[in-house]
Amino acid sequence: MRVAIGSDHAGFALKEDMKRFVQSLGHEVEDMGVFTGEQPADYPDWSKKVTDSIIQGKSDRGILICGTGIGMSIAANKVPGIYAALCASEEAAKLSRLHNDANVLVLGGRTTGKDLAESIAKVWFETEAEGGRHLVRRQKVADREAEALDIGRGGKSGGRVVVMSHPLIQHKLSIVRDKDTSVKDFRDLVQEIAGLMAYEISRNLPLEEVEVETPICTTRGFSISGKKLAVVPVLRAGLGMVEGILRLVPNAKVGHIGLYRDPDSLQPVDYYCKLPNDIGERDIFILDPMLATGGSASAAISHVKRAGGIRISLVSLIAAPEGVSKVRADHPEVDIFTAALDSRLNDHGYIVPGLGDAGDRLFGTK
Ligand code: RB5
Repeated sequence: MRVAIGSDHAGFALKEDMKRFVQSLGHEVEDMGVFTGEQPADYPDWSKKVTDSIIQGKSDRGILICGTGIGMSIAANKVPGIYAALCASEEAAKLSRLHNDANVLVLGGRTTGKDLAESIAKVWFETEAEGGRHLVRRQKVADREAEALDIGRGGKSGGRVVVMSHPLIQHKLSIVRDKDTSVKDFRDLVQEIAGLMAYEISRNLPLEEVEVETPICTTRGFSISGKKLAVVPVLRAGLGMVEGILRLVPNAKVGHIGLYRDPDSLQPVDYYCKLPNDIGERDIFILDPMLATGGSASAAISHVKRAGGIRISLVSLIAAPEGVSKVRADHPEVDIFTAALDSRLNDHGYIVPGLGDAGDRLFGTK
């Protein structure tokens, strides 16, 4: 198992012990810091390093240690997809896996001794999650998480960055990242991921009751109430996501925005824009698989706003922190949905680790 471990200054000594111990259990451990206990360190910063690693699929589990373990658990549990358990006994550790399927173990460096911490970690790594009623309860927790994120109400609260950690999305994303995936498989999978993302984003769309005549009798059912969707791919790579969404929402209208990135300045240059006339009445998903510098995405959002668009979300497969910051700075009310938040851009403006050039891989132009 790949395990990311992190602590603040108060958890440093125990982290050093735990790092060695978890390696001795046969796991691959990545130390995310701190690297000294001498300087005060703010626990949310180190919690973020470990939880980002898990959310980005670079680590399978995490261990976080601060003085009491309390600050680290509060910070970690703010992150969708993170289930952090502060454990002070073997029994709690075992149940946090069996019942809660915790993916982060939190320990108190000032409250839990080395021997107890080791026996807690041993049982935590050995124990698998149970299904049945515990799975139902965990699903309810996930539902609360989605409600709290207000997924699907794009534009109402706005400005969220939602990393969609659904296992199917993450599984398919790893295949599209693989440089040996064929053009055909790449294309199919990008559409599938876009569809799965749209499914998740639309989880809380409002419903209204309708009457339905079955072959047997009349009954009540539900219909999505009043919402109209427009998908707006940024040419050309955004085209690769359109069909996957239209399969789920066939009545959505499709606009197009043509932008390319100047290879020298890395700035977006626009050459085409055609949007539905009633764009102002629609929920708008702007599609751009790679949110790299954010220049193209931000320019596309500006185009849509100029045409009257109001409720705008950006849907990307992979986002770089630089792109997220740019869009948030230029359009703070726009929600960003992504399947992964990668680490950085390289000198050529490509996302690292990324998947290369999405347009070339979709259309076989390289
Ligand atoms: C640091 O003094 C301490 O507050 C921190 O390690 C942690 O216990 C917070 O919850």
